[in-house]
Amino acid sequence: MAHNPEGNRKQVHYVGDSRVRADRPKRYAPDYSEFPGKNEAFIPDFLLKEWMVAAVFLVGFMTLVMSELPPLGEKADPTNTSFLPVPDWYFLFLYQLLKYKWASGPYVVLGTVVLPLIMAAALLLAPWLDSGKERRPHKRPVATGLMILSVIAVAALTWSAEAEHEQQAESAPIRMPKATKVMAVDEQGYQLFKESACIKCHGDQLQGVNGPHLIGVGNKPGMTTDKIIEIIDHGRGGMPAGMFQGSDQEKRALAEWLMKQKQK
Ligand code: HEC
Repeated sequence: MAHNPEGNRKQVHYVGDSRVRADRPKRYAPDYSEFPGKNEAFIPDFLLKEWMVAAVFLVGFMTLVMSELPPLGEKADPTNTSFLPVPDWYFLFLYQLLKYKWASGPYVVLGTVVLPLIMAAALLLAPWLDSGKERRPHKRPVATGLMILSVIAVAALTWSAEAEHEQQAESAPIRMPKATKVMAVDEQGYQLFKESACIKCHGDQLQGVNGPHLIGVGNKPGMTTDKIIEIIDHGRGGMPAGMFQGSDQEKRALAEWLMKQKQK
């Protein structure tokens, strides 16, 4: 083999590809020099404008962040049994979807997987599903219509989730009264309550800890001093019998004190 004077330089061969048409239209954008007066240089003109807008937005955003406290909601209260946890606002529509019969129970897969997957896949495949050249929204009725419909559906679901949540919060069966530090701790009743370990389950402010709260037991329908004595003596449900160690007289004093715990 003869020595190649060009060293190891590769040779380029041009071949024709029958799949590429010779009259194929140009796919690249026209040069900006083709639009005199209607353009500007990217550096520095355009970039400077972009930076100025970005700076204004950034400063505005930071001012907002510093002036507004983050909306953390109420403090967590483990004794509050009427608290209804709900997802953040941007997931409320998915949460609401799962409340409907046709998307929950035996059809829960529809609400949790199938529907969200269809929506996500449609968005992902939109460029292939709608490959028309038209870009104006009113010339693409199917795509535009579906988009508007989805936005309306998400807004409506979010709104009804919020409305239902408010309604539920209002009609919650046991609205846990806020424990307030107003308990008269020097009363004999309170002392007995504390000494008999009632506190361990019912809390030092009657707020309930391992047992139910006793706030307002005094105005519970059917509740009497004798009834409380009976509960103390015999227990009830998760409450053990024979917790009280004092005399019968003290037991009555404790029960009478509890009957005085009425809720305003
Ligand atoms: C081991 C935990 C525990 C202790 C200690 C305890 N309780 Fe209870 N108590 C409960 C539970 C649980 C209930 C709810 C019973 C039920 O399911 O009906 C209850 C219910 C009650 C009720 C009825 C409340 C209502 O709304 O009907 C009264 C009154 C009461 N307790 C008083 C006392 C007193 C007084 C003491 C102290 C001598 C005491 N408890 C000690 C757990 C406890």
